[in-house]
Amino acid sequence: MCGIMGYVGPGQAAPVLLDGLQRLEYRGYDSAGIAVLDREIDVRKAEGKVERLIDLTKTSPLNGSVGIGHTRWATHGAPSDLNAHPHSDPSGAFVVVHNGIIENFYELRDRLTEDGHEFTSETDTEILAHLVAEAYRGDLAAAVRSAVAQAEGAYALVVMTVHEPGKIVAVRRISPLVVGLGVGETFLASDIPAVLHRTRDFLIIEDGELVIVDESGATIETIEGEAVDREPLHVDWDSEMAEKGGYEHFMLKEIHEQPAVVTETLAGRLEEDGSAWLDHVDFDDDFARNLNRVWITACGTAYNAGMVGAEIFRRLLRLPTSVEYAHEMRYADPLVSEGDLVIAISQSGETADTLAAARLAKERGARLLAITNVVGSTLSREADDVLYTRAGPEIAVASTKAYMAMLIGQYLLALRIGAARGLADSDLADRVIHGLHALPGDLERLMQSEAAIADAAKRLAHAEDVYFIGRGLDYAVAVEGSLKLKEISYLHSEAMPAGELKHGTLALITEDVPVVVVITQEALYDKTVSAIQEVKARGGEVIAVAYEDDDRIGRFADVVLRVPRTDDLLGPVNAVVPLQLLAYHVAKIRGNDIDQPRNLAKSVTVE
Ligand code: G6P
Repeated sequence: MCGIMGYVGPGQAAPVLLDGLQRLEYRGYDSAGIAVLDREIDVRKAEGKVERLIDLTKTSPLNGSVGIGHTRWATHGAPSDLNAHPHSDPSGAFVVVHNGIIENFYELRDRLTEDGHEFTSETDTEILAHLVAEAYRGDLAAAVRSAVAQAEGAYALVVMTVHEPGKIVAVRRISPLVVGLGVGETFLASDIPAVLHRTRDFLIIEDGELVIVDESGATIETIEGEAVDREPLHVDWDSEMAEKGGYEHFMLKEIHEQPAVVTETLAGRLEEDGSAWLDHVDFDDDFARNLNRVWITACGTAYNAGMVGAEIFRRLLRLPTSVEYAHEMRYADPLVSEGDLVIAISQSGETADTLAAARLAKERGARLLAITNVVGSTLSREADDVLYTRAGPEIAVASTKAYMAMLIGQYLLALRIGAARGLADSDLADRVIHGLHALPGDLERLMQSEAAIADAAKRLAHAEDVYFIGRGLDYAVAVEGSLKLKEISYLHSEAMPAGELKHGTLALITEDVPVVVVITQEALYDKTVSAIQEVKARGGEVIAVAYEDDDRIGRFADVVLRVPRTDDLLGPVNAVVPLQLLAYHVAKIRGNDIDQPRNLAKSVTVE
């Protein structure tokens, strides 16, 4: 976790670092700090968001054109001024920022303490400053190598010293790190959007590499010291895309971007006849034909998207497909075997649990296909095939447009596999292909009903518990709707298959407990209505998400949020939108920090 920055150039480092840190706040935002070198190293840090650090640097400015910075998501030691990075060695000559976890932290700290080292923070990071200082013999890169050789774990580390001004040394051990190449200035960051408005040329630092940065550029080596030749990557993203673009919150902007995201994700990939051309998905038709089993693995919202994907694979291909939480799968000795396809879904492509499950699948001989939004992410580089979701940078911690793009990616993938091995139901496939092309227009129309959804949000805003129910694909959508509500409104909510309600949870339904019902699947319609009746009989209030031409639902539900009709297999794409907006408006009424909800971070790169 955490966001890291570095700058070497002719200008003032502090404003560049602070600006980059603000763009990285989605990675963590409980405290922040920067260190700037100008003969001596000067450090400012503050608990809380980067905004507080900016205020601090206004009253107590920093001068210098070389610097490093950090925005933190606590792992070792509570969020505080003291535990905020950067951390220094006792002399103050070496300063480090770090993203990730040092697994043998206690061992190393005990050893250093025995040797007389004293520590001022509770962090694992501080020991890295000590280790680098201890190993320094006139060559910063060599000292960093020595420190990294001792520190086990997954992390990215950035180091600066007064002894070698004009230079920063950084190492990537799993956690992401990129170098931005400017004219006469060079940037280090955890991701590309942090400095995209300053340069479009990047060096992606790979796992196990060390980079030496100065104002003329960067030299990459392996941690062992072998030279690495890396071509810069030119990035075409529009930096406007990373800004709020007139919306009050990134989350709202990202919800409204979904019609465009669907268009982008489909662009050039789906022919009218159903053939899907997926760039970077390289398996051949024989592989698809011989496939016996598909596994989908992911965490959080990506897992919820996988629940929909599993049903798409089962219905379109009649292919046994299961969906597994990555953190469970990695320790469950799964029956993955050679010839299976394992699909790892991850917006960031950096989630530690998902990467571990993906690696396990590869070890067992499965073909690994990544569905990810981040080009150059760790997952994308380790996978045999990659389906990029093209949602653009997603800034709000609660994922919306990335989820949407994951759904679309899975329809495309099923059609691609189906083109090789045959589709179970060609009429269904035709309806899906036709429906996919109609989706951007449907979603545009759906966005216009936001006022009605905001109105419905008032009914939930002061509840203590909310239940989300649905059956089949409606249940998968209910799970995502419930997660969205929890993440940003802090309301207790729970999703369950509508048929399960009567087996226990009904005991909790009273007139104070609203129930959100997703009801789009025709084959299960009457069954879901029965669950609604069970709720109504206990006085519960029902908010339903149903097709716009459903003329029965009004008899059962108190409020109906309407979505455009599509084939039921595509139902989740439209049905999730009112639930995203519902969560957004409930959180807004409750006055919460919508883009950066408490206790959460966008990308969880530790186990
Ligand atoms: C974190 C985020 C979630 C996200 C999950 C998986 O928990 O808070 O919003 O769904 O990680 O992230 P990924 O980048 O792998 O999709």
